[in-house]
Amino acid sequence: MLLRAAVTGLLLSLATAALLASAPAMSQSGGAAILRQRCAGCHVDGSESSPTGPALQGVFGRRVASLPDFDYSPALKAKADRRWTASELDAFLTDPGRYAPGTAMTAQPLSPAERAAIIGALRVETQPAK
Ligand code: HEC
Repeated sequence: MLLRAAVTGLLLSLATAALLASAPAMSQSGGAAILRQRCAGCHVDGSESSPTGPALQGVFGRRVASLPDFDYSPALKAKADRRWTASELDAFLTDPGRYAPGTAMTAQPLSPAERAAIIGALRVETQPAK
């Protein structure tokens, strides 16, 4: 009985410690950290595209599928009359295949909060350095 209570208490405090440890990390780095974790597998950092994804640096406000160094799918090129505003990015990230049926980008399961954080980070990254 006493042992069980002790074990439960220990587990609870471990869980609390884990929560406390992760919370500041989330709020400090936010969208940039999510970008690194969820997008960097295909979109490398920097201004050049890789074979697996177009460069995301400067994407905010940029015309859809407009980088000369990436071979976009016909599906995304069909949207080239649009620009990547916050709402366009949100629609694409919510469901790439619905936004541009046949796109080469696979669906990334993201919560609305994660999408907002990512879009915030992309917006910041697009501001020219002063
Ligand atoms: C599995 C690889 C992969 C992952 C992971 C991935 N992407 Fe993509 N992304 C692509 C590919 C490939 C394209 C080009 C799609 C096409 O041509 O249809 C693309 C296109 C884009 C575009 C359009 C860029 C442009 O120049 O028009 C944006 C914006 C984008 N991705 C954002 C993201 C974000 C944000 C994440 C992380 C949440 C992410 N992607 C994760 C592969 C990926």
